[in-house]
Parts: sequence; C-alpha cells; structure tokens
Amino acid sequence: MNGNDSKKARKQVRVWCDGCYDMVHYGHANQLRQAKEMGDYLIVGIHNDEEIAKHKGPPVFNEKERYKMVRANKWVDEVVEGAPYVTTLETLDKYNCDFCVHGNDITLDAEGLDTYRLVKTAGRYKECERTAGVSTTDLVGRMLLVTKDHHHSSDKTPDREQASSISRDSTSHSPWTGISQFLPTTRKIIQFSEGKSPKPGDRIIYVSGAFDLFHIGHVDFLEKVAALDVIIKAIIP
Ligand code: CTP
Repeated sequence: MNGNDSKKARKQVRVWCDGCYDMVHYGHANQLRQAKEMGDYLIVGIHNDEEIAKHKGPPVFNEKERYKMVRANKWVDEVVEGAPYVTTLETLDKYNCDFCVHGNDITLDAEGLDTYRLVKTAGRYKECERTAGVSTTDLVGRMLLVTKDHHHSSDKTPDREQASSISRDSTSHSPWTGISQFLPTTRKIIQFSEGKSPKPGDRIIYVSGAFDLFHIGHVDFLEKVAALDVIIKAIIP
C-alpha cells in the first residue's frame, strides 16, 4: 500500500487555517504547506476588510484580492470568505474540520485576547513553524523605507523603530521579524515543488520575471500562461 492508498483507507483529515493573508508572501505559503501536510483537505478562512480593520488596522490588499491570492495557492482546497477573527468551534464544525493550524506566534484580538483560545482549550489547535524573516509589516516597512538591506544577510538591520512606526498601525500585532533568512536550500525547493518532475510529453513553458511582491496581476498572468499551454496542445498535434 503506498502513501496515497493509506491516506484513502482512513478517514479524511480536514484542516482549518485562518488569517488576514495580506500581501501574500512565502511565510504564508510555507504555513499553508505545513498545514496541508498535517491532513488531507485544507480549508482557509480569510477575514474580511472590516474585521481586520477592527482588530488590527486596515489591510493593504482588499478582501477580493486576498481571497484570490490564497485560492491560487496549490495546497489550498477551499477558501471561506469573511471568516471571523476569533476562531470558534462552531466554525470548525460548520466546515467539518478536525483542527485548526496556525504559526507558532500569538495573534490577539482587539481586546488583547488570544484569537485561538477557544480551539486551544478544546484541543483542536495545532502549531506549525512560523517562517522567520518575513511579514506583511516588514514588507510594508521595506517599501516605505525603500531599503535594500534585505538583500544582504549581514548583521545590518533596517531601522526597526522607523520601519515599525511608519509601517504599522498602532493597534497592529504583527511582530517585526528582521531580515529574511529564507535560503532556497535544496530541501526547501523540494518541499515547495513536491519533488515533481515533468512526465514524457509534458510541455514545459518558461516564464521569467522579478515576481516581486507577488500579487493578483502575477496570478492572472500565470493563469493565462497555463491556459495557453492547453491551447498550444490543442492546436499543435
Ligand atoms: N505566518 C507564518 N510565517 C510568517 C507570517 C505568517 O507562518 N512569516 C502564518 C501565521 O502564523 C498564520 C498565517 O500565516 O498562521 C496567516 O497569518 P496572517 O493572519 O496573515 O498574519 P500575521 O501572522 O500577522 O502575518 P504577517 O505579519 O505577515 O501579516
């Protein structure tokens, strides 16, 4: 029995994640990857703009953009729009999810309470490794400072206070995470690519670009490229 068969033989494990997923970055992607590994089916609840503004401060991308970005992630099976900021057992039950997965940091609501307190108490909470060195707050700070320091892995860090004060709403809880240490090691490349290699007859399309601050325009472009592949296959025997 291979790994896939044994997964099919037992009950499907349904995993719930939720968050803002603003300016989707590789920290979010790594969280979704780890969450999917903990089960079979991944549902991601995304907070709407109003809910985020109430608890943390307004997001950079609007809810439609944020929903689209997470839908485009290959580990995500389903997106729930407008998920509540505090994760409740009712939400997990409504979507038939066994447990919720969150990065190992604390997220607080407007009252300063842990947003996962209810699922933690019920034993339906699991943690994955938060990716050090990237956060939406950090990205906003980099843009506002137009710093290039994140290109060098030295001990020189951008001015923490300055970036923090201009990039963060006073009610924001996102932690400063410093300079990216996310090195594209062979192990990481395999984890993200799932070790898949092309099969005979597969058409491989090469696209190039900076893909900086990956956004819905990039997703639209990649969707068009993927569709183009089908057309090319259809017209070229
Ligand atoms: N996350 C992560 N690594 C990061 C950033 C986020 O694992 N570097 C995880 C969070 O722990 C959470 C999920 O991604 O489980 C969604 O996070 P989100 O609600 O978007 O916000 P933050 O945790 O505040 O992340 P950021 O500061 O980047 O907005």
